Amino acid sequence: MTSEPDLTDLSPQDRAALGSGADFWTTKALGPVPSITMTDGPHGVRRQAGATDHLGLAESLPATCFPPAVGLAQSWDAESVRRVGEALGREARGLGVDVLLGPGVNIKRDPRGGRNFEYYSEDPLLTGLLGAAWVTGLQSTGVGAALKHFAANNAEHDRMRSSSDIDPRPLREIYLCAFAHIVRTARPWTVMCSYNRINGVHAAQNRWLLTEVLRGEWGFDGAVVSDWGAVADRPASVTAGLDLEMPGGSGVSDAQVVAAMAAGTLDPADVDRAARNVARLATRVVAGRDLGDAPGATDDHHRLAREVAARCVVLLRNDRDLLPLAPGRSLAVIGEFAVEPQYQGGGSSHVNPTRLDVPLAEIRALAGAETVSYSQGFTNGDTEADHDALRAEAVAAAQNADVAVVFLGLAATQESEGFDREHLELPADQLDLLDAVVRVQPDTVVVLAHGGVVRLAPVAARAAAILDGCLLGQAAGGALADVLFGVVNPSGRLAETVPVRLQDTPAYLNFPGENSHVRYGEGLYVGYRWYDSRDVEVTFPFGHGLSYTTFDYTDLALTADAAGVTVRLTITNTGARAGREVVQVYTALPGSAVARPARELKGVAVTTDLEPGAAEEVSILLSRDDLAYWETRVDRWVVEGGAYQVWAGASSRDLRVTGRIDITGDDLRIPITAESTLGEALADPTAAAALAEVFGGMSESMGDATALGVDMMRMIASIPLNRLTGFGVDPGKLDALLSAAED
Ligand code: BGC
Repeated sequence: MTSEPDLTDLSPQDRAALGSGADFWTTKALGPVPSITMTDGPHGVRRQAGATDHLGLAESLPATCFPPAVGLAQSWDAESVRRVGEALGREARGLGVDVLLGPGVNIKRDPRGGRNFEYYSEDPLLTGLLGAAWVTGLQSTGVGAALKHFAANNAEHDRMRSSSDIDPRPLREIYLCAFAHIVRTARPWTVMCSYNRINGVHAAQNRWLLTEVLRGEWGFDGAVVSDWGAVADRPASVTAGLDLEMPGGSGVSDAQVVAAMAAGTLDPADVDRAARNVARLATRVVAGRDLGDAPGATDDHHRLAREVAARCVVLLRNDRDLLPLAPGRSLAVIGEFAVEPQYQGGGSSHVNPTRLDVPLAEIRALAGAETVSYSQGFTNGDTEADHDALRAEAVAAAQNADVAVVFLGLAATQESEGFDREHLELPADQLDLLDAVVRVQPDTVVVLAHGGVVRLAPVAARAAAILDGCLLGQAAGGALADVLFGVVNPSGRLAETVPVRLQDTPAYLNFPGENSHVRYGEGLYVGYRWYDSRDVEVTFPFGHGLSYTTFDYTDLALTADAAGVTVRLTITNTGARAGREVVQVYTALPGSAVARPARELKGVAVTTDLEPGAAEEVSILLSRDDLAYWETRVDRWVVEGGAYQVWAGASSRDLRVTGRIDITGDDLRIPITAESTLGEALADPTAAAALAEVFGGMSESMGDATALGVDMMRMIASIPLNRLTGFGVDPGKLDALLSAAED
């Protein structure tokens, strides 16, 4: 790598100036440090031509629109995501972009979250796995990633002020987990701190987050960039660990930094650190540019977008093997989304696609145009229309065809960055239409387009087959046609649970918060962790997805070593078509000393395309780190010893094989303090010995349940040590006990 620029000759003013942008998308060229160009991201390159507008929302140059994160996640396939990252990098280079602003890896805490379409999953392990693959693919081309939005940015409501109030365990185990994995394994060049506050402190001013955790614990060596407009007090942010404020151009905050240094309220060493981190980023950028020109968007990228999009389609139900569509059957394609597909979300991630596959045209291309009719069925916009006539026309077409294929979903106006949804319902007129269609046509397939989860109980009650296309990018139409006709056997899996009702969702009573505070009251119990622990009925569980073939899970074998638990099993294609299986491994620790969800995803593998009858041995390492929980009494990760239950299955509720494995726990000694109870002191060998010494025979008699009686023992066991003085224990003896217990 090129050596890092020498900043010795830069004045304090210039060092301060390096820490904010030149305009909306670029940084300043100063001394030896060149200007860097950043742009959104994440599922396509949103490069604006010419001068940038103030909000950066003007039309951008054409670029391949790959499936947004909501779609990519449904592949559960790190390799597909890595390939998309790599293609994005090539396009970014072709468009002169040095840092692509993604991936977004926030957890989908509530299905109403307005940016859920930009995020991967309700599960941190899956999010981390896919986010790391995206960063690895992108950065292999010499373009940097911006891991965002760090952290706990899980709603749009009041997003620039709202405080995400989260207890330490869920903060670590759910909300920071994917960030940690990606920083450690994929080493993104930048991390973008979020708009919101975390437990009262703005992410951009949060020293604990940006410095202690990100750099100190995870070893981040890149630049911390602010979300666009997230900085309220730049000197405070620089002290906390912010390196680059974006956007920039006015120079106001640079002057504040210089003034704060002069006033002695900002340490010049922090300004130097920020300047050095920006300079290091520039060094990486220059090395990337030195790799030469990249071709930009090509037909190959569109083909990749189609291939990957097909891998992201989830077959939610398939009664009577209605799909794949048999050749020669006449089709009534219904619904405006078939001609005007919804394939990406609104806001800063909106890409100007190089081309657009229209589902109806792709279906006709595979079916033969003469066998496919089209009726609009309903309107997505606010246009005046004769709704009854539209519906009647669609129903007649359905009746006259062998199969109805009905496209339903949420229109662009119904979800976007900037606001959360208030409900999970599909538009009522779409459900009415579906109702009318299935009455005349039992062979009805529903194809769904949506960014956030929609309630599917009404659809599941009506349609014989359902394909979930969520948002699949510019090749959605071709990908959906490929799956409908069996050119591709679906292997997508839900990355989010589909609840029966909004009222069943974990954060229902705590979303979106009030008075700029959101209490994450459900704690660890996010997504399936909630539904499965409470045994709440769901419409489709996390991880669910059918195939046109079937798979058997056999020969589970578990082994443990220092790296973790290796899970081996055999997957056999027992059906009549070639296909892939996504193998999900969940664990639990029955009898754990801490609260734990009923089961948690700890490993994923995707088989190769298995021919009918073929078998594959799958080996999945559940890393020891992933088995740890955050122990709040010592502020660190701890693996609890015990017999872990391990399941391999096809969803969180379709567990096919199971076994148990003994795992040796980490040493965990909870410090004994004046607030510790007698029971805790007796359970701690050093403290118990000290108790015996200081109080003579007291500890033995207390520890002897038969002497005191079990009830009595339980009662005194809960007395904190510092209350013993109230029962006549000499305070001097207590002090002696506490200092002896420290040894
Ligand atoms: C969004 C970021 C985006 C940035 C630049 C912000 O409003 O939160 O995700 O990268 O704008 O467009």
